Formats: sequence, C-alpha cells, structure tokens
Amino acid sequence: MFRSLASLFFYARFVRSFSALGYRRAVGDEDAPAPDFSGQTWLVTGATGGIGRAIALQANRAGARVLTVARSKDRLKALKAAADTPGRMVPLAADLALLADIRRLPSKRSVQTRPVDVLVNNVGVLLNDHQLTEEGLEASFATNLLGPFVLTEELQAAGLLAADGVIINVSSGGMYGSPLKLEPMNCTNPDRFDGMTAYAMHKRAMVELTRCWNDHWQGAPMAHVMHPGWVDTQGVRTALPVFRKTLQRVLRTPEQGADTVLWLAAQRPTPAPEGGIWLDRSLQPEHEFSWTRRSPHTAEDLVAYLQRLAQR
Ligand SMILES: NC(=O)c1ccc[n+]([C@@H]2O[C@H](COP(=O)([O-])OP(=O)(O)OC[C@H]3O[C@@H](n4cnc5c(N)ncnc54)[C@H](OP(=O)(O)O)[C@@H]3O)[C@@H](O)[C@H]2O)c1
Repeated sequence: MFRSLASLFFYARFVRSFSALGYRRAVGDEDAPAPDFSGQTWLVTGATGGIGRAIALQANRAGARVLTVARSKDRLKALKAAADTPGRMVPLAADLALLADIRRLPSKRSVQTRPVDVLVNNVGVLLNDHQLTEEGLEASFATNLLGPFVLTEELQAAGLLAADGVIINVSSGGMYGSPLKLEPMNCTNPDRFDGMTAYAMHKRAMVELTRCWNDHWQGAPMAHVMHPGWVDTQGVRTALPVFRKTLQRVLRTPEQGADTVLWLAAQRPTPAPEGGIWLDRSLQPEHEFSWTRRSPHTAEDLVAYLQRLAQR
C-alpha cells in the first residue's frame, strides 16, 4: 500500500516533465537543424532497441560511423539494413552483462580502426525477476552499471576514446528515488531483490560515475549524463506493463528520448563541476528530494567498489 502510494506520488510529481508533454514544452515540435557528425566514430550500446536504435540511426544519418552493440545478431543485422548508410553501421554482438564479452570489444578490428568520438552508454534493463549472470553478478547491476564502467575504463586505458570526444551516459529519472548505495546494488540474494529499487540505485550511480570521470580525466574525454524521460519502448512494455498502459498516450517516441543524446554530442557543453543531469537539452539538479543526498558513500567509494568487482 505504502509502496503504491509512493509510486503514485513519484509519477504524479514528474508526469509534466518526463512525458511527451514535457518534451514538447522544452524542445518544441520544430525539427532542429540536422547535426553533422561526418568523420566521427560512435559506439552505442543497446543499439538495436528503443532509444539506442533511434540514436544509432540518427547518428548514422548525420554522417557518423556507428559501432552498434547488442546481443541479438539478427537485430544487429536488421539495424544495419535500416540505416541510411549501412556501410557505416558496424554490428558488434556482445552480452554487455558479461565482463568477458566486454573485455573482448577493445581488441576488435572495427573498434581499433580509430578512437571513438562519442561513446553512448545506453544499455539498461529493469528486471522484475532476479537473475544471476554466469559470472555470478546480479544481471541488471552487471548490465546497467558494472558493464558500462568496465567498457568505458577499458576503452580509455587502451587509448580508444578520443581525447576531444564525449561519453554520454543514459541514466533514468528513476534515480531521483534513490541515494547512492554500494553493496545493495549487486543483490545476489533473490529473496532481497527488488528490480525497481535496484534499477534506481544503478541509475543514481551512473550520475556519480559521470562526475568522477570528469574529475579523473579532466575533460579528455568529457562525460555527460542524461535521462530520456518516459519513452514507449520494448523495455518499458516488458518491465512496466501497467505504467505503460496507464501513460501510453503521453509516452515519448524513441526519437524524442534520443534527442538530448544527439544534442549533447553536437553541442559539447562543458561539464559543470557540481554535476547535474540533462533532460531535454537542459541541465537539471541531481537531487529532487533531500533524503537522497544522504549517503555514507562518496563517488570515489563507488569507483573503488566497481574496480573491486571488475577484478574478480
Ligand atoms: N524507455 C524509457 O522510458 C526509459 C526511461 C528512463 C531511462 N531509460 C534508459 O534508456 C536506455 C534504453 O532504454 P530502452 O527502453 O530504449 O531499452 P530497450 O527498448 O529495452 O532496448 C534495450 C537494448 O539493449 C540491448 N540489450 C539489453 N540487454 C543487453 C545486454 N546484456 N547486452 C547487450 N545488449 C543488451 C537490447 O538488445 P538485445 O536484447 O539484442 O541485446 C536492446 O538493443 C536504458 O539505459 C534505460 O534504462 C529508458
């Protein structure tokens, strides 16, 4: 009962800004001038579905060579076929919940061809059922946080992120419902698992991680974190069927969800030292509720925790 009321309060609090109404108010219906990403290499994770697919197709249309990562080879092939310039859409099949798969990516010839100008850590899942990966990690934690952490760190260590490039992390407005927590994020005990809570924690951690990368790498490359609002995708249909049914008429299109990623890649604003999270081309506060500021952990604790798990 308390949980349902809390969810209702949360959704009511954000419906005006996270829905398509918020997008229209902030960005408008006018088509923005088409960006020019010619000569750039992009790497987009979770590129075959929903928001990632819209990002990959639009970056390709704007001239970029796009390395597209997801698990299903058939869907990667279909994405390539749907691209304006299929020759610049490069499929890379990998399970981004598996560290072994992620660690193979930097040695692929197509990844080594030239440094990545725009890395979009888009992959993310909300799992209602508890699952462990074959490496013994809770699957949504591995996909949403540890995977993007390891991929980004390994690409940077291998010199495969362009120093004047940009990392764009896709978080979620769900992160407004969680402070930074460490151990509960990788919940290996099925009896304690709550998919929604876990997802909110992972997405909060992406915000902290973004600030850390900017501190550590001093803008070479710079990192931004954004959230797409509420978007009608397969992910939402599978994980949140009631939410989707209730709000279907005001959910965003994948293109609207992708808009801020493309805008950040084109505009490259300097990251603010105090952080923030982008929504609809504007920087929003990292906290909406005072209680989420309270955490015994710092962002550096988070990095140390992820490094420990990555070394297993
Ligand atoms: N939709 C929303 O309303 C919303 C709101 C806030 C934030 N977000 C965030 O936006 C991002 C994209 O969400 P979406 O709704 O567009 O997702 P989606 O429709 O579920 O698409 C997910 C994509 O990720 C791939 N994927 C899933 N697990 C993977 C894995 N282990 N390894 C490699 N690829 C994997 C899927 O392809 P395969 O299955 O073939 O691997 C697919 O391409 C996520 O980070 C999500 O948290 C979405």
